[in-house]
Amino acid sequence: MMAKKQDARSPIYNLIVVGLSGTEKEKGQCGVGKSCLCNRFVRPSADDFYLDHTSVLSTSDFGGRVVNNDHFLFWGEVSRVLEEGQECRMHVVEQTEFIDDQTFQPHRSTAMQPYIKRAAATKLASAEKLMYFCTDQLGLEQDFEQKQMPEGKLQVDGFLLCIDVSRGMNRNFDDQLKFVTNLYGQLSKTKKPIVLVLTKCDEGVERYIKDSHTFAITKKSLPVVETSARSNINVDLAFVTLVQLIDKSRGKPKIIPYFEALKLQ
Ligand code: GTP
Ligand code: MG
Repeated sequence: MMAKKQDARSPIYNLIVVGLSGTEKEKGQCGVGKSCLCNRFVRPSADDFYLDHTSVLSTSDFGGRVVNNDHFLFWGEVSRVLEEGQECRMHVVEQTEFIDDQTFQPHRSTAMQPYIKRAAATKLASAEKLMYFCTDQLGLEQDFEQKQMPEGKLQVDGFLLCIDVSRGMNRNFDDQLKFVTNLYGQLSKTKKPIVLVLTKCDEGVERYIKDSHTFAITKKSLPVVETSARSNINVDLAFVTLVQLIDKSRGKPKIIPYFEALKLQ
């Protein structure tokens, strides 16, 4: 087999999870599901899966080694065996926005770009940043396995663009779609592959699902994966689909709609 360019640089794919983030005013009372998607993919077992990953933090938690004064989390390294029996390794990073628990404004970080610009970064670095597990870990880092984000700059290979298709709490879907459209505009400038990930499909609203598919069709037929982190449906499929877009030798994406995946379970 011919050597792939990708292999020469690194056999590990760096996958970035993005989606509506910000203060309560922007995202409503609860997040769109980026953290839960990452959690279910990286540590799928029931004991290691948490639904609550708050982004409202004290100054000391924001400055601790896990968050490390960044607005992104390093979720760790994952390995999966793909269809043809080949092993595939991935790093997972979530781009979010951490809010100060005193001022309810975004924490001040060294890179104070707006979210949509920051989330589209194609190189990420953070000295001695630790892998994130859960909210309880913050301030109690020594009680958890301490695994570091790789040294140097992580070269981003692709993006999972999340869109919450549940009713949400206090959030207008059309506003979210506007945000996602702007974010997509930034991501597409990087020329890296993108998968549109519908989150919380276990509580999906038909119109929101339909509008998301329509959005994807207008964006060069972006692949859409309908997921539920809570019910653990299609979470692996979302990440594997992105890897298959990044590296064509990894097989052809085969999209399975939510209700079909549910039946297969
Ligand atoms: P921020 O990083 O704060 O912007 O939020 P986020 O996008 O990381 O959202 P997060 O994963 O923290 O999810 C927010 C909430 O949505 C969770 O606390 C859950 O209550 C709910 N949620 C997440 N995933 C699912 C899902 O698959 N199904 C359902 N029904 N609810 C979910
Ligand atoms: Mg989050």
